[in-house]
Amino acid sequence: MDIISILVLNGPNLSRLGKREPEIYGSRTLDDINKELVDTFPGVSFEFFQSEEEGELLEKLFHCEDLGGYSGVVLNAGALTHYSIALRDAISAITIPVIEVHLSNIYAREEFRRTSVISEVCSGVISGFGANSYHLGVRGLMGMLELG
Ligand code: DQA
Repeated sequence: MDIISILVLNGPNLSRLGKREPEIYGSRTLDDINKELVDTFPGVSFEFFQSEEEGELLEKLFHCEDLGGYSGVVLNAGALTHYSIALRDAISAITIPVIEVHLSNIYAREEFRRTSVISEVCSGVISGFGANSYHLGVRGLMGMLELG
């Protein structure tokens, strides 16, 4: 069986999950979510990375692209989703498929959240399923790559 390597990449403020607006983002921490992914998908080799810094997220994407061997990226870009052309360009610049995920349904929230500048260059978008959005992102990616 092929080893599936997936990078789960989280942007600004997602380190605060569990404490941050639990009525919107739920009570699970990012660590809880990451552990659940490992338990749910034993056949996947996960790498987890979170940063508050846009540049670090870009560097991580380029590093994975250059290293090779990654099947895809599940990305919650946080607020960068709505305005970061640099992130969009970075996703366009790599060949690894990127799935955009959000815990909340960004289309049912404030006007400024209803625009994603990255959706057009992502392979799929999942929004509004809470922590389950990450699971659906992984499943979607695997289906897309016909890996399970
Ligand atoms: C988010 C939605 C964004 O609008 C927000 O800035 C976040 C989290 C989500 O997962 O629902 O930080 O990406």
